[in-house]
Amino acid sequence: MKKHWLVGNWKMHGNLKANAELFNAIRSGTGELAPEVDMVLCPAFPYLAQMQGLVEGTGIQIGAQNASDHLRGAYTGETSPLMLKELGCGFVIIGHSERRSYQGENDGLMGRKALAAIDAGLIPILCVGETAEERDAGRTHEVLGRQLDAAFGYIRTAHDNIIVAYEPRWAIGTGIAATPEIVQAEHAFLRARIGQRDAEFAKRLTILYGGSVKASNAASLLSMPDVDGGLIGSAALNASEFVAIYKALV
Ligand code: G3P
Repeated sequence: MKKHWLVGNWKMHGNLKANAELFNAIRSGTGELAPEVDMVLCPAFPYLAQMQGLVEGTGIQIGAQNASDHLRGAYTGETSPLMLKELGCGFVIIGHSERRSYQGENDGLMGRKALAAIDAGLIPILCVGETAEERDAGRTHEVLGRQLDAAFGYIRTAHDNIIVAYEPRWAIGTGIAATPEIVQAEHAFLRARIGQRDAEFAKRLTILYGGSVKASNAASLLSMPDVDGGLIGSAALNASEFVAIYKALV
């Protein structure tokens, strides 16, 4: 039975009341999680403790949306992956394109953040993806390869558990997802690129797709052979959409 991952990135949305309502609506829609689906919800930092309480006994796992590349120290405003682990996180999104765009985060920093997350006992969800301009210029594989190589320069493959998310930047938040054919092609490229480092690791690597996944396209996108699940933004904030995406995986 192929396992699928369904990761909800709540970004900078929510409040205590809305989070509880959204979570309960998702739970009533999915019921007991099917064994073939691993669900991870990633609220903003202030709500991780609330999420820890909400997921108790449900099998739903918690992720954060970012973490420092340091485990401790004089880094004002930063959050250590060790702190996230203490709050029940099992995962942390690293290198999301919104952090690359708005916070100026670069490829090398992503590798260091992924390594710190692994050292803290978290599974990093490393985001890679090209812009529309890069795709139009035929530079997609150059960009994906550079992002991957920079991050994997820090990762010890065989010993490190990491998830990769292909998130074409032109599909994030636009309502225009990549076609299943593009998604499969880029996932196969990513898997082959990592396979050049470690064939066994690449075979078992989880690669998620993110970028305008909705109830209407989830089955076609997430059923592709090299797609192991979805990283969902806007649709994760709408219980009926998110439940419909979940149902497309079971
Ligand atoms: O991290 C997932 C997110 O960037 C995708 O956003 O709204 O296109 O599903 P959205």
